Amino acid sequence: MPGEIASSPVAEHFAVDGGARLQGTVDVVGAKNSVLKLMAAALLAEGTTTLTNCPEILDVPLMADVLRSLGCTVTVEHDTVTIDVPADPSAEADYRSVSKLRASVCVLGPLVARCRRAVVPLPGGDAIGSRPLDMHQAGLRKLGATTEIAHGRVVATAETLRGAQIWLDFPSVGATENILMAAVLAEGTTVIDNAAREPEMVDLCLMLQQMGAKIDGVGSSTLTVHGVSGLSPTQHRVIGDRIVGATWAFAAVMTRGEVTVRGVDPHHIDLVLDKLRSAGASTDVSGDGFTVAMDGRRPKAVDFVTLPYPGFATDLQPMAIALSAVADGTSMITENVFEARFRFVDEMVRLGADARTDGHHAVVRGVEQLSSAPVWASDIRAGAGLVLAGLCAEGRTAVWDVEHIDRGYPRFVENLSSLGAGIARVVGEPDR
Ligand code: UD1
Repeated sequence: MPGEIASSPVAEHFAVDGGARLQGTVDVVGAKNSVLKLMAAALLAEGTTTLTNCPEILDVPLMADVLRSLGCTVTVEHDTVTIDVPADPSAEADYRSVSKLRASVCVLGPLVARCRRAVVPLPGGDAIGSRPLDMHQAGLRKLGATTEIAHGRVVATAETLRGAQIWLDFPSVGATENILMAAVLAEGTTVIDNAAREPEMVDLCLMLQQMGAKIDGVGSSTLTVHGVSGLSPTQHRVIGDRIVGATWAFAAVMTRGEVTVRGVDPHHIDLVLDKLRSAGASTDVSGDGFTVAMDGRRPKAVDFVTLPYPGFATDLQPMAIALSAVADGTSMITENVFEARFRFVDEMVRLGADARTDGHHAVVRGVEQLSSAPVWASDIRAGAGLVLAGLCAEGRTAVWDVEHIDRGYPRFVENLSSLGAGIARVVGEPDR
């Protein structure tokens, strides 16, 4: 599989030709934000855990390296990841592996649970804003662990983990996951209140239950965990990626086309589909997919407010900005989850978007057509948003730093091309 993932150190960009109306059907595979946590959860049981429907993205082999640094044997073959966990995994994650992948901090909870000790290098900063670990640490401390940040690493130790009542200040996905994965092997009962409710969180709970964990309230904001003394390895199919599916839905609406997405539970994007209907789309949902159609009409402006699930996902905020940039009317977009997530808006402005930001609000006045320009992706979702904008721009847009997009979207170029988009991966240095 790594051979199929673009990971070349050579500079690459996506050349995006505007004007095509997207049409057709696209299949979506497992969610990045689920598979990485499920790989970490495998650490909780000695033996072989197998994950299927995994996305072929760069983050998966990076997470495999993190697990190898902990003593696991990991194979990644097409959509299947097999993790063989030793009886006695190492408690210290390798600095170089962790520094490449922010999500690898999710090994913290499983390691404290399994080894009673975890040493995880602090992941670096992020283009979308600061990502502290205070809630992760506070939760683990409530369970009886001692935690400190020393020499750039989070060090957590616990003689015994004991169930506790934990209230999260904010329904942080990462903190909920780490606390949950520690609590499943703690003595007694843990209650996590104001827990994250994202579908990927539910996927993690389902896999943990298959491994023998006792969790009540799955999918709600109160998770009750009755600790058990051991878990067994399992086989699990990763949930479909709602963010990727929704990205194709935005692309369909922006290009005034019609796209069918398969492999995503449409209820995971109920709110997104409702917003797209307000923008003028007709939608049709089935068991594991949906169709979004614009029939050639220009989308109307709608407002978006990002919030933890079931609110509008912050990961789709760049798509909301891109849609607003070409919609008829003025939209207000409010970002409530990551403080710096509007940074990429300057790149949208290069493409002719009439957008201004002030604090956590953006006001976007839609224009009939954007104009092509060279732009730089600062993170996965900003990159996807810029490509969508490029599809609505006159001329050829070059989107640089595409390794961000490759980290989150499997077969990005192939999928868009199959829908009729003019897009190609081009190797070569930028002209700047
Ligand atoms: C995950 C997703 C990311 C998504 C985000 C919100 C993965 C790999 N990433 O990130 O794509 O955008 O959820 O849906 O699954 N915070 C604190 N202290 C903490 C923890 C978080 O202040 O201890 C803050 C963060 O700075 C941020 C907010 O809480 O402002 C939400 O973060 P969180 O839900 O934890 O996001 P991640 O799990 O990092």
